This record gives sequence, structure tokens and C-alpha cells, in this order.
Amino acid sequence: MTTGLWIILDHGVALLTIATWFAAGVTLALRRTRLALAVLVAAVLVTLVRVVTVAILADRGWWFVQEKVLLGLPMLGAAGAAAVLLAGPQLLAARRGRGDGGSAGGVVSVLTAAYAALAGLVVTFLVGYPLTVSTAFITISLVCAGALLTARVVAPPAENTADAGVAQAPEGRRAISRRRFLGWTGGAVVVTAAGAGTGLSFLPAESVTMGGGPGRSSRAAVSVADLRGSGSPASGGTVRRHVLTAKKATVRLPSGREIDAWTYNGEVPGPEITATEGDLIEVRLRNADIEDGVTLHWHGYDVPCGEDGVPGVTQTAVGPGEDFVYRFRADQVGTYWYHTHHASHVGVHKGLYGTLVVRPRDGQRADEHSAAEQVDLTLPVHTFDGTVVIAGSDGRTEHPAPPGTPVRLRLINTDSDPHRIVLAGNPFRIAAVDGRDLNQPGEVSDVGLHLPAGGRYDLVFVMPDRSVALVVDDDRDGGLRLRPHGDAPEARVEDTSDLPELDLLRYGAPAAVPFDTRNADRHFTMVLDRGVAMVDGQPAYAQTVNGRGHPAIPDQLVANGDIVRFTVVNRSLETHPWHLHGHPVLILSRDGTPSTGSPLWVDTFDVRPGETWEVAFRATNPGIWMNHCHNLPHAHQGMMLRLHYDGVATPFGGSHGGSPDHGH
Ligand code: C2O
Ligand code: CU
Repeated sequence: MTTGLWIILDHGVALLTIATWFAAGVTLALRRTRLALAVLVAAVLVTLVRVVTVAILADRGWWFVQEKVLLGLPMLGAAGAAAVLLAGPQLLAARRGRGDGGSAGGVVSVLTAAYAALAGLVVTFLVGYPLTVSTAFITISLVCAGALLTARVVAPPAENTADAGVAQAPEGRRAISRRRFLGWTGGAVVVTAAGAGTGLSFLPAESVTMGGGPGRSSRAAVSVADLRGSGSPASGGTVRRHVLTAKKATVRLPSGREIDAWTYNGEVPGPEITATEGDLIEVRLRNADIEDGVTLHWHGYDVPCGEDGVPGVTQTAVGPGEDFVYRFRADQVGTYWYHTHHASHVGVHKGLYGTLVVRPRDGQRADEHSAAEQVDLTLPVHTFDGTVVIAGSDGRTEHPAPPGTPVRLRLINTDSDPHRIVLAGNPFRIAAVDGRDLNQPGEVSDVGLHLPAGGRYDLVFVMPDRSVALVVDDDRDGGLRLRPHGDAPEARVEDTSDLPELDLLRYGAPAAVPFDTRNADRHFTMVLDRGVAMVDGQPAYAQTVNGRGHPAIPDQLVANGDIVRFTVVNRSLETHPWHLHGHPVLILSRDGTPSTGSPLWVDTFDVRPGETWEVAFRATNPGIWMNHCHNLPHAHQGMMLRLHYDGVATPFGGSHGGSPDHGH
């Protein structure tokens, strides 16, 4: 069973503990002794089952259970044990016909166990990992406050009750004053603890984490504004100039459907930018009428930081009537894309994206000769109002491909959710992932490919003498059909939804990697979850990293040349496509199982519920880089932080990149 399923099961058992303890408390209060005894036994049993589910999760990783082991279960355990000791003997006695089975103490203690169970689950959902002393104080005081209030209701001070006569007896008076004393001191302790917990939560949090490496040096800061791209192509290269104007437009899709889009140059996707290795790419971005502002971010392309297009970090957003020129050398071959990075959860979704493809230089000659016989298609997949649009086409598209032609399909997921890709009708290889070639990718067929948000797969094969179908999300009516000749019958595509998913961690052959991944200079752990956190100055039910939301998540400090390791843990029930700017990361392992296939260098990897990924990279591209979930609404809801090179500063603090530069 996957960790994700155990997480769900554990939530279910936690709900059951709450339900059974409450039921025990209520039946006891109603003096339904037989039922109360049965429910109490059930509550104890469910609590023991909970111990087992938490233990199993603990085995999958401390991150999944910390607050349960340190707070939730001990609280429930203590309250539950007290409840059994207080209520149990009375219930057993009542069963044997002695007494009515209930006392105020029994009812209060059983209900307190219910509050403890509830509080534990609330902490898991609202706070999660890491547990803080502040959270523990506040939670325990709330449970105690609940117990005190319940005691007042179940056993009110004698003067308010009908049997006030008891108060006349000296013994009764002593009991009442003892209860008052307990009530007052209890109340005082609870208020003090809650106050201390609340006070602690306002302590300033650190703004930088070092990941076990040395702290900030006192070197004079380099500004990201000075980390700009080269002014000239490599010898033999040319300059590829483009002007992209961001503007609103009504775009008509081939089916006739119209969408109100935000576009580059009125097109969706924006103009295709292509280059040959070593060319200089120069793009002037203009903004016609996108009031919020726009930028261009070169997704997966390791440009110098000043070209990275992150407003508030590497530049200010380009407002209507303004422009900005991006310039960088196309030294990296492969399939990439560009998109706005300003309010990207809206802008990219509405169409502010396009493709960037760089072909190898030595291959250029061959390309020129055989261009006519090659099929090389760039296929960004984007969803507009629930309709999948591939390279600007909704519905099914057809493309001729004579038999024997080498075919390359460059799939790009420009959405915030993963897509499932199936190539039916011919075996194929995945030549590249996220633009980087794989080592000895083998032929596969009858498999589904899971393409994370932001990710790219280059599929290659030689065109057979029959049709080949590209199926997206198992929709056999849409997608792309390659036909060997005009009159070839169309391939009948079988149902693809049962095909197993190819595991890229076991695909291709291993090869040497350029650094020793065991000796990282810095190691950062990012635990992804939902919780209550401040996002842009507002409290929100946020998407969090280590319990915080952007911009309150500390920057990760690295120094140029460091080998950096990330552990990314998903405690939540949603998939998080993790994306680091400016550097490809090497996948080391998933859930403790090492990657055994081709070295896998990616810029986005999907961390599914319950998964733990280990990745590493060498920090060789100085700057301040966003490190975020590429489900763009999640990023907007706080799941975003910065990788900050020592000695680099930004003059652009503000807008979406977040708070002013940290650490001063
Ligand atoms: Cu494609 Cu920061 O994103
Ligand atoms: Cu996410």
C-alpha cells in the first residue's frame, strides 16, 4: 500500500477515534450504561488501531507523523487512559447492577479524550509539520479548557443546582470549595499556557536556512540586475530576434470555438522560438494591455539569473506600454518553453506561454538536408475551459508522415496538472526528458507516460507503414494522428486507460554523473502540505512548505560550487510538481528506492501524495532562483521559496517575487 493511501486511512481512523470517544461520552452522560460500555471499548480499540496506522506511517518517514507522535497520540493516550480508569470501573459495576454507571468525573474524562482526539486531527490539518512548542501549548490548553468547561456543565457549582442542600453540610462545602479551587487554578494554568503559546508564535522566524553549510559571507553583493546574458552568439551562430507583445485577444480554435485569451502576439501558444545551439536569442517583450504586468520566464533553460523573468526578484514586471529585452546564448539543446511569471496562475492559464526548441549544431547540416523527410513536432498541451488544446488545436489533428521517416514528438505540459500520454501503434523511445537526453533509452510500447506540469518528453520513432496515434489523457477522440500516406486507414485505437505507467526511474541505462551525490555541501528538506499560514500578509489555508507560505518561507542559502541535496516530502493529498529555476536536478531516489535507469536530469518532478524524493544538483549558476510548485495556483497559495546564492542581492524586492530581499 502506498504512503498516500496510508495517510488517507490514518485520517479515516483518526475520524473514527473522534466519533467513538464522543459517542462514549454522550451515552455515558445519558446513563445508557450498556451502550456506553460497548462504545468505550470500541473507542479504546479504535485508538489502538490508530497507534498502528501512525506506526506504519512513521516507518515511511518522520515527516508524516511528527505532530501525531509528539502531540496528538500522547494527548489522546493520556486522556483516554484517564477516562478508562475513571469511567470503566463504574460502568462495569453498573453492569453488575451496582450504581448507575456514571459520575461527572467519568463523563468529563471521556469527553476530554474526545476533545484530545479532535484536537490532534485539527493540528494535523491546520499546522502539520513541523510541530512547534507554540502549537503544542495552544492545543493542550484548548483541550484543558474544554475539559474545564465540560466539568462546569456536567457538574455545575452546587449553589446553582437543585441539590444545593448538600452545600449546607460541611463535607459538601469542602468539596465545593475544592472544586472551585481546582477550577480557578486550572483556568489560570490554561490561560497562561495558551498565552505563552500564542506569544511564541509571534517570535520572528529565521529568514534564511543554511542546509548545514556555512552561513553568509561578508562578500560585497552582486546584483541580479548585473547577471545578464551574453551579447554575442558563439562562432558560427546567428542572432535570433523576436518581439513578443503581450495582449488580450480572442483566439479562434480550429473547431471554431473562441477563447478570450491573454497572448503573446495574439497567438496561443505564443510564437515558436527555435534556435541552433550557440545562437544568441534576443527577445523584446512588450506589454500592450495586460494591466497586471507580464514577464518571460524560460522554463527549464538555465539562463543567467538576470534573464530569468521573475518579477520582484530578477526584474520588475513589465506593465502596459513598457518593454524589457531578454538576451541569452542557446547553449542548451532540447525542448523547453516560456511563460509569464507574473501572477502566472492566471496569465499562463489564459495563454501567456510558448515553446522554445534548440537543436544541436552538428546535427544542423543533416537537418537541413533531410528537413523535408523529418517530422519534428513541438506539441504544447494546454487546457482551456476543460478542453485540451495541443499546439493550438482542439479536437483531433492529423499530420502526414511517410513510412521510414524519423519522427520526434516534443510534448510539453503547460498546464498545472499532469497529463497522461500514450503513443499507440508503434514502439518508441523517450529520447529526452525536460530537454536533457537520456542514456540508452530502450524501446517501449503499450505504456502510459505521466507528464508532470511544466515537464517535457521527446518521443522518437521511425514512422511505420500504418497510422500512429498520440493519445492524451486516454481521450481516443482527440490527440494527434500521424498517417503514412493520405489513404492509409486510420489506426483503431484501443482503450489506453489500462496501460501501465512507465517508471522513468528504471528507464534507460545508468551512466556516470558529474559529481559525488553522497557528499552534499548542503541538504534542504521541504515538506509539502496544506495548513493555515500567512500568504502575502494574509492568513490563508495555504499550500505550505515546512508549515509556512511564501514569502515567509526562509530562503535556502547556497554558495557557488556547492553540491546541494533536496529531500522533498509530500504530506498532502495533492500532487506537487516541484520545480527549481536555473538548474536541472538529478533524481537520486523516490521513497528510498534509488533511481537505477539513465541519469534523470529534470527541472520538474511530480511528488505525489505520500512520496519522498531525493534530488541533487551542483550550484553553478549564481543568482536568486525561485523554487516552487509548478501547479501555479499552489505556488500562488504559498508553495514557493527562493534558492539564494551567497553574495547575490536583488534590487527588485516587491511584487510577486515577494518580500523585500531577506537577510538584512
Ligand atoms: Cu515554469 Cu517558476 O516556472
Ligand atoms: Cu503543488
